[in-house]
Amino acid sequence: MDAKRLSIADKLLAWYDAHRRDLPWRAPPGVAADPYRVWLSEVMLQQTTVATVRPRFEAWVARWPDFASLAAAEDADVMAAWAGLGYYARARNLVAAAKAVAADHGGAFPRTEAALRTLPGLGAYTAAAVAAIAFGERAVVVDANVERVVSRLFAIARPLPASRSAIRAAADGITPDERAGDFAQAMMDLGSAICTPKLPRCLLCPLQPDCRAQAQGEPDRYPVKAAK
Ligand code: ADE
Ligand code: SF4
Repeated sequence: MDAKRLSIADKLLAWYDAHRRDLPWRAPPGVAADPYRVWLSEVMLQQTTVATVRPRFEAWVARWPDFASLAAAEDADVMAAWAGLGYYARARNLVAAAKAVAADHGGAFPRTEAALRTLPGLGAYTAAAVAAIAFGERAVVVDANVERVVSRLFAIARPLPASRSAIRAAADGITPDERAGDFAQAMMDLGSAICTPKLPRCLLCPLQPDCRAQAQGEPDRYPVKAAK
């Protein structure tokens, strides 16, 4: 491990420790996150904003607090509880996954990225996010926020989507062995609060000394998108 790689993660984690958002699916520092809450929040957040998800998440966990209660839920109740969140396949997959946990995994939620991917509705992003945040696996978590931050840090000039594998490799290169879940959530928080799509707040960014796009002077050029 070279020092520069380590220091990006160290700086970002120190920033996260000072600025982390208090969100209902996040456990307090040092406390293990509840895998059910992590999984549910990541599925809800797939196509829906944090502000919209927050109250819906609270209502959902008050009604179905764990996999067993969700596996026993009536489909019509689940669909009604999902109303307005869009992409209803996500809600159907939640119940199907809760049932699969009971039927195929003896009631225990799978703990690795690879095993999580076998559950309904758990794609590459969600499986990596849950493995890292709930179980501490060193999974590489890449969503649109992470794509933006990483493409700026490394000034990745190739346009999306062709740059995806380079972005993933760069994200892998800065993911720490410890606290991979905090690191992933720190990247998301940095992307939503500081490294925003337009007018990133580079003066407030803990990674500014490491950022090639900022050094070039035009960070919001990244991520470059293919001409339509
Ligand atoms: N967006 C998707 N997952 C998130 C998380 N765990 N925290 C904040 N924003 C997110
Ligand atoms: Fe984003 Fe600016 Fe930070 Fe670079 S320095 S990661 S462009 S906020």
